[in-house]
Amino acid sequence: IFDKPTLRTQASFSAGIAELGGHPMLVDGSLAGIGTRESVADVARVLGRQAAAIVWRTFEQARIEEMAAHAGVPVVNALTDDFHPCQLLAALLTVREHKGTLAGLRVAFLGDAACNMGNSWAVAGAMAGMDVVFGCPDGYAPAHGAAEVTDDPEAAVAAADVVVTDTWVSMGKEEEAEARRATFAPYAVTAGLMARAAPDAIVLHCLPAYRGTEISAEVLDGPQSVVWDEAENRRHAQKA
Ligand code: NVA
Repeated sequence: IFDKPTLRTQASFSAGIAELGGHPMLVDGSLAGIGTRESVADVARVLGRQAAAIVWRTFEQARIEEMAAHAGVPVVNALTDDFHPCQLLAALLTVREHKGTLAGLRVAFLGDAACNMGNSWAVAGAMAGMDVVFGCPDGYAPAHGAAEVTDDPEAAVAAADVVVTDTWVSMGKEEEAEARRATFAPYAVTAGLMARAAPDAIVLHCLPAYRGTEISAEVLDGPQSVVWDEAENRRHAQKA
């Protein structure tokens, strides 16, 4: 079910469920009107009678927790305002493929660390024993998970093995776009900033990416970028 836009999540879950022999049934969130036309709890009770599991991308975290409380089948978070755990499983798989390990690696997350991706990196990085540092403006640190935070982008990426960024304008924040571009400008992942990271650092981005804003085209399309592997790994991680 998608209450927000999607490309990778819909495609990777659909492909992965089909590869496992299941049928991915797409429910259009705008038609279902979950929480307006019908309560979250009633939708959960109905879908739980038709589906083996529910994968939902929505807004408030409380909505998916209510779905999980009433569905009677597993409910997977396919992105909320607060977290994006499926993306982190794919990201960690990608790091392990390229670095051979997770524990002990230094990860720098640059930009809007207060979004779902920042929170999920704080939680997943800690679970994997990674040393995650967030380079972000004051007021944009992750709200969940203990995190090392600095407002100095160069200090954040210093000797990093993994450099991560995300859009500065998450879905639902579109009216803040102009102000956000100014706020986050110093945190753009450029070749100049990458020169401070470890020479063999890899670059991750959950996509969609905006070349010339949070990441330069040179970096996104350059040899340190593993973003297409990361996008592919959504399917493998979710199947697992
Ligand atoms: N932080 C982004 C992630 C997109 C996959 C958003 O919520 O729009």
